[in-house]
Amino acid sequence: MTVGALRVGIRIPRRWLAKLLADGYAGVLDDAVLMACEAITNAIRHSDSGDLEDPGTATVVVSGAGRTVRVEVLDASSPDTAPRLADEDLEAVSGRGLHLLDILSGGRWGSCDGDHGRTVWFEAGA
Ligand SMILES: Nc1ncnc2c1ncn2[C@@H]1O[C@H](COP(=O)(O)OP(=O)(O)OP(=O)(O)O)[C@@H](O)[C@H]1O
Ligand SMILES: [Mg+2]
Repeated sequence: MTVGALRVGIRIPRRWLAKLLADGYAGVLDDAVLMACEAITNAIRHSDSGDLEDPGTATVVVSGAGRTVRVEVLDASSPDTAPRLADEDLEAVSGRGLHLLDILSGGRWGSCDGDHGRTVWFEAGA
């Protein structure tokens, strides 16, 4: 699914993913949806997809193999930032999203740059 980064925000892809996973992947649904929300929010907030003057898109790709679900979130990339775990700081008000994703995925996440932007991927389930 591809959504306009500033037009629809997180609600529509969240519902779309929850509905998709309800059939066959209910056991990983909560974790996968939570992680996807973090990754999509990051795409909107930190990549050029969320440019206020020239908004782009975020594309969510989902695949399942056995009991594992893989979710990829493609954005327009960004020249100055890349997805990385923030330094741990108990008093920080941000920098928690990727830590959450790291824990829930058991470290099975990453990002890669391609010709058409950047992909953040993660896996949920066995
Ligand atoms: N899709 C992305 N494109 C570019 N930079 C990213 C992307 N996702 C994350 N980052 C970078 O990685 C940092 C850590 O991301 P993380 O989600 O952990 O924290 P946050 O988004 O800053 O705050 P929070 O998720 O707690 O609201 C971000 O501050 C940003 O610099
Ligand atoms: Mg975040």
